[in-house]
Amino acid sequence: MSGCSIAVVGATGAVGRVFLRILEERRFPADRIRLCGRRSVGTALTVNDRRIIVEEVTPELFDDVDFVFISATTEVSRQIGPLAARKGALVIDDSSAFRMDADVPLVVPEVNADDLCGHRGIVSIPNCSTTPLAMFLNPLNRLNPVRRVIVDTYQSVSGTGAAAVDEMMSQSRNVLDGLPVEPDVYPHRIAFNALPHVDDFGVNGYSTEEMKMARETRKILHEPDLAISATCVRIPVAVGHSEAVHVELTRPMSPEEVRDALAASPGVTVVDDPQGAVYPMPIHAEGKDDVFVGRIRRDLSHPNGITAWLVSDNLRKGAGLNAIQIAEEVLSRGLLKTPGRRTQL
Ligand SMILES: NC(=O)c1ccc[n+]([C@@H]2O[C@H](COP(=O)([O-])OP(=O)(O)OC[C@H]3O[C@@H](n4cnc5c(N)ncnc54)[C@H](OP(=O)(O)O)[C@@H]3O)[C@@H](O)[C@H]2O)c1
Repeated sequence: MSGCSIAVVGATGAVGRVFLRILEERRFPADRIRLCGRRSVGTALTVNDRRIIVEEVTPELFDDVDFVFISATTEVSRQIGPLAARKGALVIDDSSAFRMDADVPLVVPEVNADDLCGHRGIVSIPNCSTTPLAMFLNPLNRLNPVRRVIVDTYQSVSGTGAAAVDEMMSQSRNVLDGLPVEPDVYPHRIAFNALPHVDDFGVNGYSTEEMKMARETRKILHEPDLAISATCVRIPVAVGHSEAVHVELTRPMSPEEVRDALAASPGVTVVDDPQGAVYPMPIHAEGKDDVFVGRIRRDLSHPNGITAWLVSDNLRKGAGLNAIQIAEEVLSRGLLKTPGRRTQL
């Protein structure tokens, strides 16, 4: 059995490095791996015990590649995504460049893997706050349609990339040492602070991140009219996004029914014993694949309301893992755009 050929653009970033670890963990069948970056061109990374030199992105790179995983910037995705797709590769893109395009599936495999069937060479993964929300809402929506969602996020700095993690760490040291702090990645100090500011603000007062959560969730769930209001907040946590979610359902649902529905849902783990101080936290979710849900309770402000707390590793389920799961699903369903050019698995 021989594997496929992949290119990873953004291999040295926060997502790229985790992606490569997951590739190894899941024994993804890639026997030819090309790694691309910008500043790190010429350095070496080890994948599956092989030393691979990071190279520049060139159009020729895509001539004989089955999958192109892009975790770089939206501009890079826009420049190379369509080109790689035209050359016959399947592009799995982490950026927001194509997520809302009508001909690009936006996929969380546990929720809408069937959407992959209509792909035309590019598949997007959702924003790292959208994915856990969709995984939480989907099993409830199937049993008892969701009418309205209010969600407040507590997002880690790795969601912004590797430079933001460095900034939080160095600022924290400076604050503790009584030294001055110069914000760079964020508009204000992130150490020992909370910023209700994730991405740019639009004229309606919502940030782009908040609007992404609403639009992407509707697309993934195939619920174009679902009412969603999000407030996204950046907090000084390295890895793991948390969300407080308030859901209005069509009919009342008990917390026990919600727990049962979530516990039966792939990729979701219920962690819910508040009396015993047991609930999901970023320090436990980091490095794990599942979306963790706890604090499940009736929303006292609405007869059909449920409130819960979600945590997931934004670099894994929010990015790298979701991308690899999509590729696995594509292989198992025989959905490569030009399957003839790679050896049969
Ligand atoms: N972080 C998350 O939780 C998360 C979740 C979902 C989606 N995403 C998306 O994933 C993408 C990457 O995010 P990240 O957090 O990993 O960012 P990051 O830590 O800043 O890493 C960016 C990566 O992109 C590479 N890169 C930048 N410009 C490039 C170019 N012109 N050509 C080739 N490579 C280039 C960098 O290479 P060098 O190091 O060599 O310069 C680096 O490997 C973004 O689109 C982001 O929106 C991130």
